[in-house]
Amino acid sequence: MGKELSIALLAIAVVGLLHSTAAMETHVVGDKIGWVVPPGGQYTYESWATMHHFAVGDLLVFNFTNGDQDVARVTKEAFDNCNSTDPITLKTTSPANFTLNTTGEYYFIGTKDKHCELGQKLAINVTAEHGSPAPSPAPRGPVTYVVGDKLGWLVPGGEQAYAAWAYGKTFIVGDTLVFNIVNGTQDDVALVTKPAYENCTTNSTIAVYKNSPVSILLNTSGEHFFISTYDRHCLLGQKLAINVTSSTAQPPSAKTPSGSMAPSSPTPHGTSGPGAAHAPFSSAPSRIGSGYFTFLLIAVAAFFYWSLVTS
Ligand SMILES: *[C@@H]1O[C@H](CO)[C@@H](O)[C@H](O)[C@H]1NC(C)=O
Ligand SMILES: *[C@@H]1O[C@H](CO)[C@@H](O)[C@H](O)[C@H]1NC(C)=O
Ligand SMILES: *[C@@H]1O[C@H](CO)[C@@H](O)[C@H](O)[C@H]1NC(C)=O
Ligand SMILES: *[C@@H]1O[C@H](CO)[C@@H](O)[C@H](O)[C@H]1NC(C)=O
Ligand SMILES: *[C@@H]1O[C@H](CO)[C@@H](O)[C@H](O)[C@H]1NC(C)=O
Ligand SMILES: *[C@@H]1O[C@H](CO)[C@@H](O)[C@H](O)[C@H]1NC(C)=O
Ligand SMILES: *[C@@H]1O[C@H](CO)[C@@H](O)[C@H](O)[C@H]1NC(C)=O
Ligand SMILES: *[C@@H]1O[C@H](CO)[C@@H](O)[C@H](O)[C@H]1NC(C)=O
Ligand SMILES: *[C@@H]1O[C@H](CO)[C@@H](O)[C@H](O)[C@H]1NC(C)=O
Ligand SMILES: *[C@@H]1O[C@H](CO)[C@@H](O)[C@H](O)[C@H]1NC(C)=O
Repeated sequence: MGKELSIALLAIAVVGLLHSTAAMETHVVGDKIGWVVPPGGQYTYESWATMHHFAVGDLLVFNFTNGDQDVARVTKEAFDNCNSTDPITLKTTSPANFTLNTTGEYYFIGTKDKHCELGQKLAINVTAEHGSPAPSPAPRGPVTYVVGDKLGWLVPGGEQAYAAWAYGKTFIVGDTLVFNIVNGTQDDVALVTKPAYENCTTNSTIAVYKNSPVSILLNTSGEHFFISTYDRHCLLGQKLAINVTSSTAQPPSAKTPSGSMAPSSPTPHGTSGPGAAHAPFSSAPSRIGSGYFTFLLIAVAAFFYWSLVTS
C-alpha cells in the first residue's frame, strides 16, 4: 500500500473517529404520524420542535407517502408566506433526509395544494453539537421558566412530556415557575408530595392554584412535585417533578422534599413570556445519559397519538 494512501486512510479513520464521538441523533419529523397535513394544524409541528433539541450533525428524516406529500427546505420568508415557488431544496421521495450541518434556523414546508397553509410546515433551530462540554455553571440571576414552553400546562399525551421539558434545565432557589393553564378550563396546578405525584393522588394536595398564569417562586431546595388535580389529567401525564438546588451549588443529594413554597398572586408579569423560559441546553449537566432521546421520542410519540385521537 502506498504511503500516501496509508496516510489518507489514517486521516479518514481519525476524522471518522472524531465524528463518531459527537452524539448524532436522527429525528423522524412528527415521529409516528410522520410528515402529513397535521390534524392539529401548525401547532403540531411547532410542539414537536419545542420538545426536541437539534444539533449540528443530526439527521432530520421526513417520512411521507410518495406522491401525496413532499418536503421543501425554504427561506424564512417563504416559510412565513407558504411560498413554494423557489425552494432551496425540494425532495419528493420518502424518506427525505436532511443532514443538519450548520447551526441556525431551518425551515421546511409541504408544497402540495394547501398543505403548508394547513400546517405542514416545520421551523427548527440547530445549535452546536450534542455533548459539547458543558461550561461550569456560571453564576446567574433568577430565571423564570414557563412550564412546557409553548405547550403550556395541559394534558400532554405522555407521562414523560414534562420530564422531557425539565431535562437539562437547572432550577435554583429564587427561580420562578409559571404554569399557563388553558383559560376557561377547570384545570389547576397542585403542589403535592412525592407519593401523591407518583400515584396521582389528588385528595392530599399541599396547595392548589387555579388562576392562570400561576407563578410559583422556588424558595426551597430539593425535589418539588406538581400535578393537575382535574379529572384524570395527572394520570394522562399532566405532572412535573423538578430538583431545585441551592444557589451555593451544594450537591442536591441530601435534600429533603419540601413543601414550603411562595406562590405569588396570579398577576401576569413581563418576564413570563416564552422567551424568558429558555434555559440553555448546553448547560445541561451530563448526569442524564442516552436515555434522554428515547425519553423524548416516547413523550412526543405519545403527544401525537393524543393529538390524533382527540382531533
Ligand atoms: C415511515 O412510515 C411508515 C408508514 O407509516 C412506517 O412503516 C415506517 O416505519 C416509518 N419510518 C420511520 C423511519 O419512522
Ligand atoms: C414567492 O417567491 C418567489 C421567489 O422568491 C417570488 O418571486 C414571489 O414574488 C413570491 N410570491 C409571493 C406571493 O410572495
Ligand atoms: C434516511 O435516513 C433513514 C434513517 O436513518 C435511513 O434508513 C435511510 O436509508 C436514509 N435514506 C437516504 C436516502 O439516505
Ligand atoms: C451541508 O449540506 C448541504 C446539503 O447536504 C451541502 O450542500 C453543504 O455543502 C453542506 N455544508 C457543509 C458546511 O458541510
Ligand atoms: C435560534 O437560536 C438563536 C441563538 O440562540 C436565536 O438568536 C434565534 O432567535 C433562535 N431562533 C428561533 C426561531 O428560535
Ligand atoms: C388567561 O387569562 C389571564 C387573565 O385574564 C390572561 O392574563 C392570560 O393572557 C390568558 N391566557 C390566554 C392563553 O388566553
Ligand atoms: C401507590 O399506590 C399503590 C397501589 O395503590 C400502593 O401500593 C403504593 O404504596 C402507593 N405508593 C405510594 C408511594 O404511596
Ligand atoms: C384519598 O382517596 C383515597 C381513595 O380514593 C382514600 O383511600 C384516601 O383515604 C383519601 N385520602 C384523604 C387524605 O382523603
Ligand atoms: C433529584 O436528585 C436526586 C439526586 O440526584 C435524584 O435521586 C432524584 O431522582 C431527583 N429527582 C427529580 C425529580 O429529578
Ligand atoms: C418561602 O416562601 C414562603 C411563602 O412566602 C415563606 O413562608 C417561607 O418562609 C419561604 N421560605 C424560605 C426558605 O424562604
